[in-house]
Amino acid sequence: MDSILVRGGQRLNGRIPISGAKNACLTLMPAALLCDEPLTLTNAPRLSDIRTMAALLESLGCEVAALQQGRVLVVGAERIANHRADYEIVRKMRASILVLGPMLARDGHAEVSLPGGCAIGARPVDLHLAGLEAMGAELDLRDGYVHAKAPRGLRGADFTFPMVSVGATENLLMAATLAKGTTRLINAAREPEIVDLARCLRRMGAQIAGEGTDTIEIQGVARLSGATHPVVTDRIELGTYMLAPAITGGEVELLGGKRELVEAFAERLEVAGIEVADTADGLRVSRQNGRIRPVDVVTAPHPGFPTDLQAQMMALLTLADGVSHLEERIFENRFMHAPELARMGAHIEVHGGTATVTGVERLRGAPVMATDLRASVSLILAGLAAEGETRVARVYHLDRGYERVEEKLSACGARIERITEKAA
Ligand code: EPU
Repeated sequence: MDSILVRGGQRLNGRIPISGAKNACLTLMPAALLCDEPLTLTNAPRLSDIRTMAALLESLGCEVAALQQGRVLVVGAERIANHRADYEIVRKMRASILVLGPMLARDGHAEVSLPGGCAIGARPVDLHLAGLEAMGAELDLRDGYVHAKAPRGLRGADFTFPMVSVGATENLLMAATLAKGTTRLINAAREPEIVDLARCLRRMGAQIAGEGTDTIEIQGVARLSGATHPVVTDRIELGTYMLAPAITGGEVELLGGKRELVEAFAERLEVAGIEVADTADGLRVSRQNGRIRPVDVVTAPHPGFPTDLQAQMMALLTLADGVSHLEERIFENRFMHAPELARMGAHIEVHGGTATVTGVERLRGAPVMATDLRASVSLILAGLAAEGETRVARVYHLDRGYERVEEKLSACGARIERITEKAA
């Protein structure tokens, strides 16, 4: 299994191009199931999660072509040949549940394996199911699968989410585009990935208003058509690489970055003493001298501080001049990086959903491993600033969400390489 070896202590200077968003692409690809013409996605990221979604769509009878080394994806669903999303694929990636709404809306039936829990929490899909039921779907949970039917098609409905869910908003938004009548999604997620999905669906002929606010209104149409759509910039990759010069010192320009994608996060960075400036091509982040200041962070749905940047922010705050508190409000088990950071010399105490981080003057390299992708990259960030060598195992987590992490960081002066273990 591959690992990443980081020799810490280099200041970073240079430029890092930011890719298209994994989590946007993972909902845009299943949107292709809504129509019989191809959907072309440009600016696609090259990640193992994207390949997993491609494999899932192929298993349903779609044709998926990766052009320009995977930068452009063409997904064609002329006909859905198989309406069953198998456990073998769904268990690898929870976003697989996003094929449910589109298949049901287009053909009136679908079977999708229930995803089960994962390292960061239980992560149920009850809101996806309740919303589809409100739109007239008949659901039966058996053998670990959701068996969904809507023989007369889905119908528009008002659905109020009891809590904000990105995935459930996406599933219902897609389903509602082909439902009869008007759907109003109330207390909907407002993430940039939702806005991107709505824009793509509109290019396909959907009638949608209000994306980016907490109420989205969708007027169902009889059919959608093919379209070409550029995937929005990955705000989590952006935020992650903004933390690289913040933790090591130096100055890095994030090409394609936009402050509006990471406003709450950028504001916390500035409170920590990091400079963030707009440039013609993106964002420039720098820390010249002096310690990092402690800050408190509370994760929340967009436009709040993203849970997907909490682990990386914790890596920064392990080196702050004082005590920081990080409160995780989205996933109950998302502090798995804390004990690994502690092995590098960090002082972190976790009580319930809050981590108290007492900054130390230096971290020391160590062999570490992580159980999810954001935790893995937080260990790489810590390794960049630590004295000596850090070896991050289980790199397959990283490859789910970060394209060429070692190339992007070494281009800025980091000493980082991938160690490929040969099979015996
Ligand atoms: N929830 C329910 N019932 C549901 C759906 C969600 O209780 O039916 C709960 C979840 O357990 C969680 C909260 O609601 O406590 C929010 O979950 P949400 O549905 O918003 O998350 P998601 O759609 O499963 C997406 C991203 C995650 C990101 C979260 C929160 C994708 C593919 N995944 O997950 O990304 O953390 O939104 O922003 O878009 C990552 O990229 O590392 C990642 C985990």
